[in-house]
Amino acid sequence: MTQSLVSKILSQHLVSGQMCAGEEIGIHIDQTLTQDSTGTMAYLQLEAMGISRVKTKLSVAYVDHNTLQSGFENADDHLYIQTVAAKHGIVFSKPGNGICHQVHLEKFARPGWTLLGSDSHTPTAGGIGMLAIGAGGLDVAVAMAGGPYYFTMPKICQVQLIGKLPPWCSAKDIILELLRRLTVKGGVGRIFEYAGDGLETLTVPERATICNMGAELGATTSLFPSDAMTRSFLASQGREADWLPLAADPGAVYDETIMIRLDKLQPLVALPHSPDNVVPVAKVAGIKIDQVAIGSCTNSSYLDLAKAAKILEGKRAHPDVSLVIAPGSRQVLTMLADSGALSALLRAGARLLECACGPCIGMGQAPKSGGVSLRTFNRNFAGRSGTPDAKVYLCSPEVAAVSALTGKLTDPSEYGQPPLVDMSITSTRNDNLLIFPPGQGQATEVVRGPNIKPFPVAKCPQDTLTGTVLLKVGDNITTDHIMPSHAHLLPYRSNIPYLAQFCFSGIDAQFPNRALAQGGGLIVAGANYGQGSSREHAALAPLYLGIKAVIAQSFARIHRANLINYGILPLLFALPGDYGKVAQDDTLSIDNLLEQIKGNEFVRAFNATSGQELVLRLIATPREREIILAGGLLNFNMHRGGF
Ligand code: F3S
Repeated sequence: MTQSLVSKILSQHLVSGQMCAGEEIGIHIDQTLTQDSTGTMAYLQLEAMGISRVKTKLSVAYVDHNTLQSGFENADDHLYIQTVAAKHGIVFSKPGNGICHQVHLEKFARPGWTLLGSDSHTPTAGGIGMLAIGAGGLDVAVAMAGGPYYFTMPKICQVQLIGKLPPWCSAKDIILELLRRLTVKGGVGRIFEYAGDGLETLTVPERATICNMGAELGATTSLFPSDAMTRSFLASQGREADWLPLAADPGAVYDETIMIRLDKLQPLVALPHSPDNVVPVAKVAGIKIDQVAIGSCTNSSYLDLAKAAKILEGKRAHPDVSLVIAPGSRQVLTMLADSGALSALLRAGARLLECACGPCIGMGQAPKSGGVSLRTFNRNFAGRSGTPDAKVYLCSPEVAAVSALTGKLTDPSEYGQPPLVDMSITSTRNDNLLIFPPGQGQATEVVRGPNIKPFPVAKCPQDTLTGTVLLKVGDNITTDHIMPSHAHLLPYRSNIPYLAQFCFSGIDAQFPNRALAQGGGLIVAGANYGQGSSREHAALAPLYLGIKAVIAQSFARIHRANLINYGILPLLFALPGDYGKVAQDDTLSIDNLLEQIKGNEFVRAFNATSGQELVLRLIATPREREIILAGGLLNFNMHRGGF
């Protein structure tokens, strides 16, 4: 039988289930990654499982989100991660070594293997032919402990890339085009597998850019074949032995196929405040810009920054523009220095930031009030930059660099011929900020400073659920809305009681107090609730505040899994119109809940305030129902004595 590449890798790792779209499958995980924002919780959970050494082939703990050590909190967290990693056999990537996805691609990602990461952009490694999925920290902790990763088998969608990109267009425009066509919900329940003659001209970092922003489509993951381009990338990293050829069988059948004619593309930009708000740059050219930021896990490879350097070489950024550059890794920074591109960037007036997430997550370089920031990043949700009323536009490095010179959003197609980048420079290996764990049996003390607090543990549900609707929100609520990750909050990623005070603070600052005063309750939401990051704090903070159920029109994949992992019921309105039948402050009740969780898809609820019956749905696998009944995944695994 002919197989897609996705099916081949999945079948080689399948532990349970049938690979039919909509069915739950469990797969074995070869590698894991965590970053510091989600990692502390993942390692606290790993410790709670009592595992002495990780059972994966490789696990890496990165510190890239909050590298600033302006108080003891971050330093505490970094040292905790470093020591817990050493104890459990995990590689530690020190602050300043780079963004997890860029470093992982360079150092560790392997074609044909599986990767589970506690970051929603983990699929970046799909650019090298790795099946890489983002998940909550608890799922990653289970994988480190040797347990399978369970998820609903998505549809496999083939994306045919035909032809060659025109001058001034790049990989970013390919994924922006897909976002324009499909929207931020268009990838839900799908894996995108790329094919077509257009692949031949796309390097691994460019493929990684496309896979990275597959997360913005809501996709489970994205995957490229492993071919000659992959081999040459691995060879440049001194890892040619990790290469193997991988491709779909000729004539493989897909659930869906999409075609993109690369030669028809033009430079694109996503307007505020959603990555799918995409238009041609030419249509909105002329908007005055205050800041240009080049970097993030989407566009911070050597190729990305060398292109920007070539455009800026011998010129100066517009005086009204603050131009900031964040290389994706120490390797990229070293190569920029060795090639002279760094000098060109500095002479053009660029501010050089640490190799880290930085402005992507509001860690410095917040724009001015109401400012316009043009970024090569992947997300432009309102407030994410650190400035609530800033307007963030997303574009390619080419558009960003040209616009930095003109001071306004500029279509580079009108800017002459694109400069050629010399890619003959060899990749410089720079491992001086990677710490490999000591051998098994060597004693390592795990250091826990006062910022490391115990995490809240879910309880088993009661047979009757009665609660007030403490908050009613609309569509596309992101994990940033639920649990903001601003610079002043991120140092408390290991301190849920403190963080919970800011839950939904941008929407309703009184929500945490109301929830605590009423002893918890319910949240009602529209479609695509919990889109964005894999941050399980967006489930842990509501758990701490006593939230027992979220009733929504639909959920984002990772957040729904996080809710179940923490024992919070993810209920759906059976009829989308019923969203209108519930108001904030209404009291809802569900009787006979335990029986309904055990086996019912349809769950009967009653709105005691309006006197109306409501029909809700619990779409969950038998395993997920058991997890909810057990009071979350940790309790579920403990009761079973393992996986
Ligand atoms: Fe970091 Fe932003 Fe990527 S926070 S991992 S650079 S999405």
